[in-house]
Amino acid sequence: MDFKQIFAEQLAGAIDHVLEVEEVNKVIEKPRKQNLGDFAFPCFVLAKHWKKAPNIIANELAAKLEHSLFEKVEAVGPYVNMFLHKEAVSKLILSEVLQQRDQYGSNTTGQQAAVTIDLSSPNIAKAFSMGHLRSTVIGNAIANIAEKNGYRPVRINHLGDWGTQFGKLIVAYRKWGNEEAVRQNPISELMKLYLRFHEEAVHDASLEEAGREAFKQLENGDKDNFALWEWFREESLHEFARIYDLLGVQFDSFAGEAFYTDKMDAVVEMLEEKRLLVESDGAKVVLLEKEELPPCLIQKSDGATLYATRDLATAIYRKNEYDFAKSLYVVGSEQSLHFTQLKLVLQKAGFRWAEDMEHVTFGMMLRNGKKMSTRKGHVVLLEEVLTNAIELTQKIIEEKNPSLIEKEKVSHDVGIGAVIFHDLKHFRTNDVEFSMEAMLNFDGETGPYLQYTHARCHSLLRKGEYSPNTEAIELGEEEAWPILSLLKDFDQVVKLAWREYDPSKVARYALDLARSLNQYYAHVHILSDKKNKQARLHLIYATATVLKESLRILGLQAPIEM
Ligand code: ARG
Repeated sequence: MDFKQIFAEQLAGAIDHVLEVEEVNKVIEKPRKQNLGDFAFPCFVLAKHWKKAPNIIANELAAKLEHSLFEKVEAVGPYVNMFLHKEAVSKLILSEVLQQRDQYGSNTTGQQAAVTIDLSSPNIAKAFSMGHLRSTVIGNAIANIAEKNGYRPVRINHLGDWGTQFGKLIVAYRKWGNEEAVRQNPISELMKLYLRFHEEAVHDASLEEAGREAFKQLENGDKDNFALWEWFREESLHEFARIYDLLGVQFDSFAGEAFYTDKMDAVVEMLEEKRLLVESDGAKVVLLEKEELPPCLIQKSDGATLYATRDLATAIYRKNEYDFAKSLYVVGSEQSLHFTQLKLVLQKAGFRWAEDMEHVTFGMMLRNGKKMSTRKGHVVLLEEVLTNAIELTQKIIEEKNPSLIEKEKVSHDVGIGAVIFHDLKHFRTNDVEFSMEAMLNFDGETGPYLQYTHARCHSLLRKGEYSPNTEAIELGEEEAWPILSLLKDFDQVVKLAWREYDPSKVARYALDLARSLNQYYAHVHILSDKKNKQARLHLIYATATVLKESLRILGLQAPIEM
């Protein structure tokens, strides 16, 4: 139920629609302090129209407004402050959550239109980096948020499985590779080969040339090179799959860069036809001088295509295949120039839908203030981080709750949840400091804290022998109001998270909700009061439901015992 909207409708009526409901709705504020009510309407906007002081208008309006959901309406200076009727509102909110359960807070804005989300997208034969982890968990959460807003998300893993580096890798493998070693440890072996190639290329100029040649042959469909490439890809995907399994993330498509090889000529032709291609040092580029940007490289002098060309083909393919309403790219901010160029080139070529493409950037993962890299020595293989988190959780649970059944499953859910939540609680574009200790703190702002609060709700419900029904659902007590007030805001949070493509809105909300629940728990003896027991358990159940749904949106499990 949208209480703000109800207030707006009443106000619009009271001012004879001098302002329409939507305009009124837009200016309604949420007072910072609870003693100023639940919503406030500033009367400045009417002063000009009525040539009256805002304070006077506020007084008049306050006297006029009446509604069964309003406890009182009072004027404070130029503001009309409205207090919701706690008992009536609690009844409405609680019955809504109880009826809708995991559908609570959903809306139909998207009307089932497709939203393609380019996420994760690691490079074959290279380590899965912290950046790829961020892209995976942020992208997955944004997909869930899209769905909650009525869209149909399409999760696409745009694998980096094409490009000149595969020519180099093929050369390196033929020279120094060992089949058995690659089978055992595909990514680390292939990375070693790739590094060796670059080391030796410093004093052997013929290597670079051989690499270029091998890639050209690959692009021309050479059988042997193709077989090698296919094998590297398969082995790499196998390793990535372990990480996706751990994270619980699934994809609708793995169409990566290689998927577009046969769709590239059409792109070059199209650009040619629209007279956008210019020769520059034998290469073909699209100039972006007016925009004061470097040219977008489309084709090298030897005919090889580039990252940008493949992304052009990709964008067009996605529009044709999915007819997206939005096309999101969850990729680190280092690639901002690339995505700006991409969009501009498409716009120049006359594709209006390029407007709907959005580069959703994110900050870096830091350790001790420095970028965590997989290149310069301190290789942090993500799988290690994840299994580490699970093991540490297992130890904590062994100490805290040794008799817990399903210990293994819970350790998994909590350990992984800790890593995911630590990433998502930060505003998306901020950098994140990596700290296993901080992630696993059961009392901090962590995934485990939320999961623990959720499990605590369930233990209360078990003790109170609760079963969801709609009896005795009014809860007027002051102490419950902060929770109810948050429950009522969930739908707004879901909308905001979508508008800003920002999962941290949901993460922060879940923390607030858990905190207010724990405060309530500390101050109110939930089960001891006969009169209120049932209503309080409804509140606990509703809170558990919304917490669980928030966790689900973020990609976390919510065990009922831990
Ligand atoms: N594979 C790239 C990388 O690891 C990311 C690809 C992002 N998606 C895209 N459509 N360009 O840097």
